[in-house]
Amino acid sequence: MKEYVLKSDDFLVSQTDAKGIILFANDDFCKIAGYTIDELVGKPHNIVRHRDMPKAAFKDLWETVKSGKIWTGYVKNSTKDGGFYWVYATVYPMYDETRQAQTYLSCRRKPSSQEIQEAEALYKTLR
Ligand SMILES: Cc1cc2nc3c(=O)[nH]c(=O)nc-3n(C[C@H](O)[C@H](O)[C@H](O)COP(=O)(O)O)c2cc1C
Repeated sequence: MKEYVLKSDDFLVSQTDAKGIILFANDDFCKIAGYTIDELVGKPHNIVRHRDMPKAAFKDLWETVKSGKIWTGYVKNSTKDGGFYWVYATVYPMYDETRQAQTYLSCRRKPSSQEIQEAEALYKTLR
C-alpha cells in the first residue's frame, strides 16, 4: 500500500451535511484522495475511510460535533488507488441563524511522523 505523505502546505478541507454526506471538498482534498469533486459530492464521507481506522474514533468525532464541540484527531484515509495518507483533522460544527448545527467542516493538515506513530499505536488498541 502506497503512502502519500502530505506536504507541509497541503490543507485538505471538506464539508458534510448532518448525516455525513459530502457537500464540498477543496482541491487539495480531491487531489490527494484521487477523486474529482463530482465523484465526492453527494457521497457518504466514509468513501475515504481506511479499514485500519477504529470505529471508536468516528463515534467520538460524531458525538463531539453533534454536541456542538470541535473535534480534533488523527485520521488515516484511503485514496482511490488503494493507497493511504494520514491527516491531523479539526472538525467544526457550522451553525445557521437558528444556532442549530446544520453542516460540519473538516480542515486537515500534515501530522508529524511522530504524531502518526503515536496515533497508529493508539488505534491498534481500539476497535
Ligand atoms: C466534516 C466531516 C469530515 C469527515 N472526514 C472523514 C474522513 O476524512 N475520513 C473518514 O474515514 N471519515 C470521515 N468522517 C466520518 C465519516 O462520516 C464516517 O463516520 C466514518 O468514515 C466511518 O464510517 P461509518 O460511519 O460508515 O462507519 C467525517 C465526518 C465529518 C462530519
